[in-house]
Amino acid sequence: MQMMVNWNGTLMPLEEARIPVFDHAYLYGDGLFEGIRIYNRRIFKLDEHLKRLYGGCRHLDIQGMIPYEELKARIIQTVEASKAENGYIRVSVSRGTGIGLNPENINQTPNVMIAVTRLSLYPPELYESGLRAVTVSTRVMTPDSLDPRIKSIGRYVSNIQAKIEANRQGAGEGIMLNAQGYVAEATGDNIFVVHDGVLRTPHPSCGILKGITRDTVIEIAHDLGIPVEETWLTLHDVYTADEAFLTGTAAEIIPMIMLDHRPIGDGTPGALTRRIIREFHQRTREVGVLVGR
Ligand SMILES: Cc1ncc(COP(=O)(O)O)c(C=O)c1O
Repeated sequence: MQMMVNWNGTLMPLEEARIPVFDHAYLYGDGLFEGIRIYNRRIFKLDEHLKRLYGGCRHLDIQGMIPYEELKARIIQTVEASKAENGYIRVSVSRGTGIGLNPENINQTPNVMIAVTRLSLYPPELYESGLRAVTVSTRVMTPDSLDPRIKSIGRYVSNIQAKIEANRQGAGEGIMLNAQGYVAEATGDNIFVVHDGVLRTPHPSCGILKGITRDTVIEIAHDLGIPVEETWLTLHDVYTADEAFLTGTAAEIIPMIMLDHRPIGDGTPGALTRRIIREFHQRTREVGVLVGR
């Protein structure tokens, strides 16, 4: 696989890619991104990712974005050029180029970057043994400052702070609460818990990114006849869960076996978690936009 970049429609190897120093996302975090996986030459849930991206563009009032089908074609072209069988696609959109906050004073032609690379968040053993997490002090942003459902670049400063906090405590992930103290999500993943065979996950109104992997797990649960509740959870609900796991495009699905030094269930990945992981891997192989070589 060759790591490739598509910068505003031009394909190039990663090492040759450059961004203008006055790119508004570089200066202010004023942009959006998506991380998408390729499994077996299939781009998983491409339309779902693109719909979220275009929803974010509307919300942030990013003007002059390239048409949906054009972006989709560029992504497929970039994946084909990289010859990736499996990999990770990063799509970044910034408002444009120019200094100063006022969009009126900059060139509001969005810069659209697509990169195809490899990404493994955790060593494979951890997917078997499960991850230890801690609750971090950094809270998710409130929707009245920046709606967490927008996958905006600038927002991730606080997620990185939360990750640093978790790392310093020797944990694999940090669980972030919302301003009211309810469980929201991990730094780059959504959270699920299992109580008496019922799958429970924070409702989008808790201040989470409405993850595509989260939606996929809900879809799988419906198909397998597992009841799902989107609700408000406190730490008590996690400490007392029978099982827990995290979901995200980058992390995929990883069992969470401990939170704040308390074992979840018996402290090993649970049966329902394993079943969902198996089904998820099956679907990633079978669905998605097939790309040529
Ligand atoms: C904060 C946050 N929550 C949840 C997710 C999971 O979202 P998805 O499954 O769409 O990758 C991500 C991943 O991008 C994230 O950054």
